[in-house]
Amino acid sequence: MTQVSMVVNGKQVSGEVEGRTLLVQFLRESLSLTGTHVGCDTSQCGACLVHVNGEAVKACTMLALEAEGAEVGTIEGQANADGSLNVIQQAFQDHHGLQCGFCTPGMVMSAAALLKENPKPSEHEIREYLEGNICRCTGYHNIVKAILAASGQDVTAIAAE
Ligand code: FES
Ligand code: FES
Repeated sequence: MTQVSMVVNGKQVSGEVEGRTLLVQFLRESLSLTGTHVGCDTSQCGACLVHVNGEAVKACTMLALEAEGAEVGTIEGQANADGSLNVIQQAFQDHHGLQCGFCTPGMVMSAAALLKENPKPSEHEIREYLEGNICRCTGYHNIVKAILAASGQDVTAIAAE
């Protein structure tokens, strides 16, 4: 076992991990941050998406030890300081961007990464960016709508489903 330390959602954390421990396992099992989900074992679903040093990363594709010293952001760190939903989370709620909710943490983290690099993405750009996030329920339409709304853009142009 090896000691690993990182900053998660602004808090310094550390723990003992094996060389093979994935970042997603460390977050879920050592830190009990179970909002980061595991939906596949093929790196395809995006349910495990977190931010590492500001970049969107599938936490099942990174070893915990590789995140040594990194700044990691998870869905648990997304709410506003007063505990209310942030603008992206609120838009998902307002536009029914979720059904079962399993993919939602990854979708919200992906959306946050997209809006950071492209604050006013087009519908097409949103759909392209979400290529690595699978949703079994919504058909993506309302997720795209929510992200457009979160970016302050008019959603009436996107056809009703
Ligand atoms: S659990 Fe990481 S991509 Fe599916
Ligand atoms: S809301 Fe169920 S998988 Fe996306």
